[in-house]
Amino acid sequence: MRQSKLGALAARPWLLLLCLALSRAATATETGGFISIDCGLPGTTSYVDDTTTLSYAPDAAFTDDAGENYNISAAHVTPELARIYRDVRSFVDGARNCYTLRSLAVGLKYLLRASFMYGNYDGLNRPPVFDLYIGVNLWKTVNVSDPPDARVVAEAIVVVPDDFVQVCLVNTGSGTPFISGLELRPLKSSIYPQVNVTQGLVLLGRRNFGPTASKSTSQPRARAQSPS
Ligand SMILES: *[C@@H]1O[C@H](CO)[C@@H](O)[C@H](O)[C@H]1NC(C)=O
Ligand SMILES: *[C@@H]1O[C@H](CO)[C@@H](O)[C@H](O)[C@H]1NC(C)=O
Ligand SMILES: *[C@@H]1O[C@H](CO)[C@@H](O)[C@H](O)[C@H]1NC(C)=O
Repeated sequence: MRQSKLGALAARPWLLLLCLALSRAATATETGGFISIDCGLPGTTSYVDDTTTLSYAPDAAFTDDAGENYNISAAHVTPELARIYRDVRSFVDGARNCYTLRSLAVGLKYLLRASFMYGNYDGLNRPPVFDLYIGVNLWKTVNVSDPPDARVVAEAIVVVPDDFVQVCLVNTGSGTPFISGLELRPLKSSIYPQVNVTQGLVLLGRRNFGPTASKSTSQPRARAQSPS
């Protein structure tokens, strides 16, 4: 039932490339409705991230009980490294493994962000390449390549046709898919008017022109707060 509904979407050319030149991606209407997941975090207890002061939940409740949790290699843990990057969920089995985010508002605009840092979590020193989907729509080919502490952040702005959305990792034969973090933020309907139920936007890049702080704000953690 759900699959066929998502299937109907596949034919629509809803992904439009976007080259963003904005320091602030978006402004959420509400502070509620945030979903912040630390993929690979064991247990059932959430924590509050020091930098963003947002609460991050473990991911077990959002997966089909697939995959395994790993810590990244200690060699790649620095004091500044955000907690979501310190552990990952890795999907050795199955060609396609999905996270399901529920209780969304049908027809509302959302920002989705998926974060990846390999950090040699499997000790193989072989960063994988795999595909990331929103439902049945290809979102991004994740290529973490070198160095092992490189971070890849995928973002998309979509209008959800259902009260849930699935984010899926697809094994394309170039290593085991893994994920560090997954976030969803509701957006005001009036921003990004290009985005509707048949067409979404995928982030190509984000630049902060004229930051007031001398420190670079291009780190993924700094960006994590921009929609709030
Ligand atoms: C992962 O790291 C956490 C925090 O340092 C530690 O408590 C936990 O035992 C580690 N897990 C594994 C499987 O090494
Ligand atoms: C991944 O990125 C590396 C480095 O940029 C590149 O050499 C390699 O061809 C890429 N792999 C795929 C499958 O795109
Ligand atoms: C979404 O926007 C595109 C481009 O503006 C337009 O062609 C399409 O008809 C719109 N879809 C809906 C359902 O409004």
